[in-house]
Amino acid sequence: MAIIDRALSLLAFAFKHPLAFVYIALQEILSLVFSPSPPPPTDKLHRPRIAVIGAGLTGVSSAAHCVGHGFDVKIFEGRVKQKGLGGIWSRVNSTSALQIHSIMFRFHPSVKWDSAYPSQKKIKEQIVSVWERYGLEKKTVFDTPVQSVKRNSAGRWIINDNEVEHGTFDGIIAAVGSCGDPQMIQLPSHEKFKGPTFHSSELDGKQVKGKKVLIIGGGASAIEALEYAVKCGAAEIDVLSRSDKWVIPRNVFVDMLLALNIFGGETSLSWIPEWFLRRFFYRDLDDISPANKGLYTDTPMVNSQLFDQIRAGKARWLRGDIISAEEDGILFNHRAKGVPKGGPGHESQVRGDVIIMATGYKRPSISFLPDQVFEQRYAPPNWYLQVFPPQDPSICATNSTYLNAIGTVGNYHIGIYTRLLLMFLVDPLTRPQEPLMKLWIDLTRFLKKFAPTKAFDFFTYAELIYWYCFVSIINPFRWKWVPFIFFGMFRGLPATVVEQEDRFRELNGKAE
Ligand SMILES: Cc1cc2nc3c(=O)[nH]c(=O)nc-3n(C[C@H](O)[C@H](O)[C@H](O)COP(=O)(O)OP(=O)(O)OC[C@H]3O[C@@H](n4cnc5c(N)ncnc54)[C@H](O)[C@@H]3O)c2cc1C
Ligand SMILES: NC(=O)c1ccc[n+]([C@@H]2O[C@H](COP(=O)([O-])OP(=O)(O)OC[C@H]3O[C@@H](n4cnc5c(N)ncnc54)[C@H](OP(=O)(O)O)[C@@H]3O)[C@@H](O)[C@H]2O)c1
Repeated sequence: MAIIDRALSLLAFAFKHPLAFVYIALQEILSLVFSPSPPPPTDKLHRPRIAVIGAGLTGVSSAAHCVGHGFDVKIFEGRVKQKGLGGIWSRVNSTSALQIHSIMFRFHPSVKWDSAYPSQKKIKEQIVSVWERYGLEKKTVFDTPVQSVKRNSAGRWIINDNEVEHGTFDGIIAAVGSCGDPQMIQLPSHEKFKGPTFHSSELDGKQVKGKKVLIIGGGASAIEALEYAVKCGAAEIDVLSRSDKWVIPRNVFVDMLLALNIFGGETSLSWIPEWFLRRFFYRDLDDISPANKGLYTDTPMVNSQLFDQIRAGKARWLRGDIISAEEDGILFNHRAKGVPKGGPGHESQVRGDVIIMATGYKRPSISFLPDQVFEQRYAPPNWYLQVFPPQDPSICATNSTYLNAIGTVGNYHIGIYTRLLLMFLVDPLTRPQEPLMKLWIDLTRFLKKFAPTKAFDFFTYAELIYWYCFVSIINPFRWKWVPFIFFGMFRGLPATVVEQEDRFRELNGKAE
């Protein structure tokens, strides 16, 4: 009876919300086919052993992939559990939400979203549920910032010089993210301002009803703060932005299409999407579209309501530079479109009762890695596939060297990078050599030499996929691993071949 009731309610849901039903069903299938099985609680996992630094979605997903494929891990999280598990999503406002569609934010195959644009709470829940599902609780240490990663005399990695407590490792996944502590700035004469100043990540419970709100910064957090202020019924909202960024619609097809630029940078054809965006999206608000900055140079903001709110007179978007804080506002130099930061304009006071600093986050440091991986010409993000330092591919810094992209941090590539690392660790013939990794970096620089950004300072998702295909094909010893690298499947076969190869090399005296 219960089964029939459930089937009927499912049917009713499918009729009422056909798209949501298809999306949920699709995720069930993806999870079934591509999720590695969590290890049984009693299972003793084999070496190699991986140290994962950071318990945000990248660290948790990477660790889940490792244990799902039989590799042991230890996760080191610098913050206490409440603030660390889930990473940045444990430390932002409850009103924050994904700007891109959640289909582009499936950070692990077992993730199941029930909405297109999940909120902070749902995102954190999904991270925690992957962590629990893969038995990572007993493999995580909180409140343990990693300060050093060194090799011991046997050539194995040790963390914080503490071999006794943590043991040794064969591989390192640095998943420290790109958003650390809030970046608060001090305005000239800030002390004169008589109202409160908050950071954009600390808005929960802040009362701005009926107030004039000044938002400083012109990034994704500024848009979120603007939405928060509109929702709370602020009287006036002014965003004071010193540099222009592109805004693209919150539309999954448009966003995927833009991420499909395989060149991973500006090309002579970039005027086409830029023209479409100005003509059909910005329309009468073309003045706030960037004048001298291509779409493929900087991470765009994804939002479809911003322009409606500006058109409805709920908020203003002002371009210019802050001169100083005043008792009841900010003295601001308004610049015209195309005039660079610090250029000429006209000064006027913008009144406000509250300042929200949407000035971003400090970047977490990866300088705990050994000095040799910071060689000047090949320092991050100029690494093999952007994440493997050419001096040592047993280190993988997924999502930690990222600067700008059209794509997403929380997607399919986390699994691919993890599996590449696992392959390098278990199959010496697939492991790239330092000169070849440097050659690949130089080749990518050459291919992108006409792009306005440096080769690794901006990429698109299509470019990432092209990188993976290229490096999988270029070395014949990696061919047997292709289904594993891309889909996490058929590990057994290449593992058996590797054993045979090892035996053959030992017989011929060619083993390492
Ligand atoms: C409000 C907001 C909304 C966002 N929305 C999107 C979006 O829609 N799409 C998108 O792609 N991205 C978005 N981002 C970017 C966001 O960074 C990623 O979504 C994602 O959370 C990154 O996950 P991560 O695990 O790589 O890093 P984090 O979530 O930052 O986790 C890194 C963890 O590493 C820990 N750590 C750092 N240094 C050390 C150390 N030395 N030792 C031990 N532990 C350490 C930190 O404490 C932290 O818990 C958003 C960011 C914010 C702030
Ligand atoms: N839901 C979402 O998708 C969402 C929401 C929030 C954040 N995020 C992500 O989180 C990351 C951080 O975003 P963010 O918006 O917090 O930070 P951000 O992108 O770094 O933007 C910070 C803004 O503050 C400005 N700024 C910095 N210092 C300033 C100063 N001294 N005076 C005046 N302006 C100053 C910057 O101007 P300059 O550019 O000139 O330096 C920039 O406009 C990004 O990756 C973003 O995509 C995503």
